[in-house]
Amino acid sequence: MAGDLVESAKRAAAQHAVRDHLKPDYTHIGIGSGSTIKYVVETIAAMSKDTTSKMKFVPTGSQSRDLILDAKLPLLTIETLVLEKEYVPGQQYLDVCFDGADEVDPELNCIKGGGACHFQEKIVAVMSKRFICVADYRKKVPNLLTGWPGIPIEVHPSLTEYVRRKLIELGSRKPYVRSGLPGKAGPIREREDPSKGLYTVESLARRIGEIKGVLEIGLFSGPTGPEAKDHQKDGGEKPV
Ligand code: 5RP
Repeated sequence: MAGDLVESAKRAAAQHAVRDHLKPDYTHIGIGSGSTIKYVVETIAAMSKDTTSKMKFVPTGSQSRDLILDAKLPLLTIETLVLEKEYVPGQQYLDVCFDGADEVDPELNCIKGGGACHFQEKIVAVMSKRFICVADYRKKVPNLLTGWPGIPIEVHPSLTEYVRRKLIELGSRKPYVRSGLPGKAGPIREREDPSKGLYTVESLARRIGEIKGVLEIGLFSGPTGPEAKDHQKDGGEKPV
C-alpha cells in the first residue's frame, strides 16, 4: 500500500515535470537514472509522435539507455551528440535534462548518485540548458543528509585510500568504498551548521572536488543569481 503511494507520487511528479518542461521545439533531451525516471520516459512515450518526432534522447547510463530503447524513442549517446554539433563557444548541447534525486533541500541543492550514475548524470546536467529535478515528497528535506547516509563520490581507483583519508581530514566520519548495493553508501557527511564556520553545500562540493583523485561528486548545487528567482517562480528549472 505504502509502495503504491510512493509509485503514484513518482508518476505524478514525472507527469508534472514533462507537462511543464518538455517543449515541442526541443530536440535534445537528457534522461537521468533511477526508478522515478522510468515514469518520465513513460510519459514522453505516451505523447503524440508528432510532438516528439524531432527529439533525441541522451541517457546517463545503461538503465536509461534501456528505458529509451524499450520506449522506442530515438537514442543519442553523449559522444555522438557532441560530434554532431558544430563547435560554438559556450554552447549548451541539450535543451533540457530530467533526472531524479535522493534528497533535495529548500535551495534545491540535491544529493544524487544513489544508483551510482552521478558521473554521467553530472555531465549531461551541465551540458543542458535546463535541469529538471523530478522528486516525490520523500526527497524534500530541510538539510541535505537528513535521511540519506552520505554523498556519493566517484574516485579514480588508484587513489581510493588517499581520497578516503582526505575526506576524513574534511570531517567525514566514516568514508568507505561502496561495493554493490545502490543507496547504501557515500563517504562524507556535511557538517550541520554553516553559521559556525562549517561547510555550506557549495564550499563542501568545492573542497571535495579539489581532492586529487575525485572524479565527480553526487552534490548538485541549486540555482544561483537571477536564475534562482526564475526558478522560484516556475518551480522547476535549475542550472547545476
Ligand atoms: C542515480 C540517481 C537517481 O536519480 C537517484 O538515486 C534517485 O533515484 P530514484 O528515482 O530511484 O529514487 O541519482 O545515480
